[in-house]
Amino acid sequence: MQNKFESLELGQFIPLHYHHNMLNDNNRMKGFKEAINLVVKPGAKVLELGGGTGVQSFFAAQKAQKVYCVERNPELVSAARSFLAKNINGDKIEVIQADALHYLPPEPVDVVICEMLHTGLLREKQMPVIDSFKKRYLEKFGGPLPIFVPEASIQAVQPIEQNFYFENFYAPTILFQDPYAIHERSKSLGNPEVFQLLSYADPFNQTCHWDGEIIMAENGQLNALRLITKNILAVNMLTYSTIDWHTQYIIFPLFVPLKVTKGDHVSIRFSYQGGAPLNALSNSLQVCLRNKLASVLQSASETLHCSSNLQSKIAETANV
Ligand SMILES: C[S@@+](CC[C@H](N)C(=O)[O-])C[C@H]1O[C@@H](n2cnc3c(N)ncnc32)[C@H](O)[C@@H]1O
Repeated sequence: MQNKFESLELGQFIPLHYHHNMLNDNNRMKGFKEAINLVVKPGAKVLELGGGTGVQSFFAAQKAQKVYCVERNPELVSAARSFLAKNINGDKIEVIQADALHYLPPEPVDVVICEMLHTGLLREKQMPVIDSFKKRYLEKFGGPLPIFVPEASIQAVQPIEQNFYFENFYAPTILFQDPYAIHERSKSLGNPEVFQLLSYADPFNQTCHWDGEIIMAENGQLNALRLITKNILAVNMLTYSTIDWHTQYIIFPLFVPLKVTKGDHVSIRFSYQGGAPLNALSNSLQVCLRNKLASVLQSASETLHCSSNLQSKIAETANV
């Protein structure tokens, strides 16, 4: 019997029927298959953290000698075991029911696959899981660290005007977008700006934050930000190319939309912990128009200056 905390925590895990969407996502599947095929050498030992249906472990098992597949959700553990028993080389994979935040394999491994990737590195525990794994792995086995799939994530933010009207009903909600499709309801107001470059093998801070400015490339109503997360699944050193996969874009509506004109400087500031809920970003978000703010401040200071001149004139007159 699960305790209340555990069942609540498991509640945030992806249910089995949603795994079909992930299996059906061609860009994700082709990217991971190619990356795993590139990185896993014949006879390698592999660990997968957050194995789900076991599909990435299956890719790895086509070349690896042994794959440890760690999954915490019991529903997925039994699904993975049953699927892998029906797939070629499934017998090389050991599915372990454990929390990836605490699990270590019994021997050193060559490759670690971890797809707990959510846009913004929000919600899913990619950052805490890999950070904890590296510390514990180095303590137990020493170096070197295994190769990580993905190797890195790059995050960017983009100002947009989003049409939040649905048959005249205005509903500015958080929404997801297919990164490989055209979106008629979104108008880009400026270029995406990179705010994070994260290499999983290197030490990293678990805070995702930005304090920067974007210059508007179009006139419009800045009413949302698009968050972009591109994952470098593997680096091919022979062709100097990368195998990439974008998670779905997220659109975050702004509490107060801003009317912007081309050339305006907009400052954007946010900070949240990797794995935090979506509202951690929205709650910390501050967006403001720098040039308009500057001109408001300037006119305020001019008014102050005028009034202090006036004050001294009154004082002079009073003295006379
Ligand atoms: C995005 S899914 C990916 C599943 C699979 N690797 C794939 O690529 O299809 C992430 C998986 O991690 C599992 N998971 C989440 N937190 C976990 C944890 N702390 N320990 C082990 N598994 C976890 C979830 O139950 C889910 O199956």
